[in-house]
Amino acid sequence: LTRRRLLGTAGATGLALGAVGGAVGYTAAPSQATPLSSIGSGEAMFHVKHQPGITQGLQARGHLVAFDLAAGAGRKEAAALLRRWSETARRLMAGEATATGDTGVAQDAGPSSLTVTFGFGNSFFARTGLEKQRPVALDPLPEFSSDHLDKARSNGDLWVQIGANDALVAFHALRAIQKDAGEAAKVRWQMNGFNRTPGATAHPMTARNLMGQLDGTRNPKPADPDFDQRIFVPAQSTKDPAWMADGSYAVVRRIRMLLDDWEKLPVTAQEQVIGRRKADGAALSGGTETTAMDLEKTDANGDLVVPINAHARITRPDQNGGAAMLRRPFSYHDGIDPDGAPDAGLLFVCWQADPLRGFVTVQRKLDRGDALSKYIRHEASGLFAVPGGAAEGEYVGQRLLE
Ligand code: HEM
Repeated sequence: LTRRRLLGTAGATGLALGAVGGAVGYTAAPSQATPLSSIGSGEAMFHVKHQPGITQGLQARGHLVAFDLAAGAGRKEAAALLRRWSETARRLMAGEATATGDTGVAQDAGPSSLTVTFGFGNSFFARTGLEKQRPVALDPLPEFSSDHLDKARSNGDLWVQIGANDALVAFHALRAIQKDAGEAAKVRWQMNGFNRTPGATAHPMTARNLMGQLDGTRNPKPADPDFDQRIFVPAQSTKDPAWMADGSYAVVRRIRMLLDDWEKLPVTAQEQVIGRRKADGAALSGGTETTAMDLEKTDANGDLVVPINAHARITRPDQNGGAAMLRRPFSYHDGIDPDGAPDAGLLFVCWQADPLRGFVTVQRKLDRGDALSKYIRHEASGLFAVPGGAAEGEYVGQRLLE
């Protein structure tokens, strides 16, 4: 019995599943009626055109994890691994147990909008003899003068993004994915993130980051006429290999926030750095969060009200030849350094059809010095090709690996 089938018969009430066991997953009959909360019952679909975890709303918990193929593992092992991973992702996203040896950690929390997303890094293709299939878009990102990158926590052969609205559900998926890797691949790095818990605010609003800003206001929206063109590789691309149809490129940056410095700034100065009001995200030129920014507006002294180096001014597509990306980050906090500084910031994940026309263009501009640069530090980086979603009966990446 799958949880979904149980939900189908038990309606909105849902049922707790009994003992989780051995080789066959859930084995016991439902033992008691425990309603899943609306958070627990949230479910994202696995077999969709674009992999899950790109256009879904931000989840409260996330894990980013990169793997390197083990010595001796090649295309065959990678294909078997992606097949295992896809089956695990499909099951867990439906609120089912793993195929074997489920740990039981998530058994009473529903899928909680779990998404699991898979990508390939530049180094994957040489390891598997698939160099001819490597997208040009995976050429290494240029170095930026402000980079302080830790190579051990950057890139990797394979990348998995896990998001869920429950910490145990997210951990359960992470552990299952790691166990599936078996002898084929080893974890290279792992990062843990979070966002606001759904339901914490009375009305849905743009998420805040750890600097306290509304972050995501001007993200492209799936309803925009050019959304797909900006975010996803077209079915008939002239630049990308056919296996990337309906896929996207993810740029991952671990960006530390220098919060001790930032928090010393008065709110008005913080607002000048971004060019938007902290409380409601409205542009400094006035209106509400969604009012168009007036880039020309000046104050009584003739100064621009949205400063020339404000982050929200210089990242705009109309200032960067149309460069656009979908930013879908998690915040992180990994404790406190010996000097007392918090190891905290943004696991910046952005999605685009072409990283050169998205992230690279904008980061080049920011690298020349926007007002935010002195309050942040890029500490790790990754670039991954995320293929389209798996059709029924298919695994993610099958069009590349078969
Ligand atoms: C906009 C914060 C890093 C690209 C914004 C906004 C905030 C913000 C508060 C305004 C609201 C919004 O439209 O979302 C931050 C913080 C960062 C960071 C705290 C680092 C910790 C980056 C990086 C890039 C980037 C590395 C890309 C290279 C953008 C873009 C916009 C934006 C494209 C929207 C511009 C528009 O369409 O008008 N960011 N950002 N940001 N940021 Fe950042």
